[in-house]
Amino acid sequence: MGLGAVPDMASAMRRLIALLFLAACASPGSRAPGRAEGAAPDGAALYRKRCASCHRLRDPSEQTAQGWAEAMRRMAPRAHLSDAQREAVLGYLQGRARDAPR
Ligand code: HEC
Repeated sequence: MGLGAVPDMASAMRRLIALLFLAACASPGSRAPGRAEGAAPDGAALYRKRCASCHRLRDPSEQTAQGWAEAMRRMAPRAHLSDAQREAVLGYLQGRARDAPR
């Protein structure tokens, strides 16, 4: 009521951002041209695509390799990963874990 357009703009922006976010998530992830069906999944891409819908993406170095194994036990079902996808994501994360050999 007469407070000007600012609050409306803010909520419109929020809605727009939410929509863009949903659209990005909904597109059936075929941004890997030439990847053969059944080839090893791309752990890094899966991680970015499937693990950021509920919370921010953790930096791989935030956890130890063991920590990632434990987190993935809980998170893979939440992200609806297949066994192969889960392995790929875990491999990606463990390769960059805090205690990963460099
Ligand atoms: C459906 C929602 C959802 C998805 C998808 C999801 N997470 Fe989570 N995640 C959570 C919630 C909620 C928490 C908060 C703490 C908890 O419940 O364990 C969390 C916490 C975490 C934590 C914090 C440490 C811990 O173990 O609690 C890590 C690390 C993590 N998630 C990694 C991942 C990874 C990796 C993926 C992708 C495989 C993923 N998450 C996908 C919901 C999700």
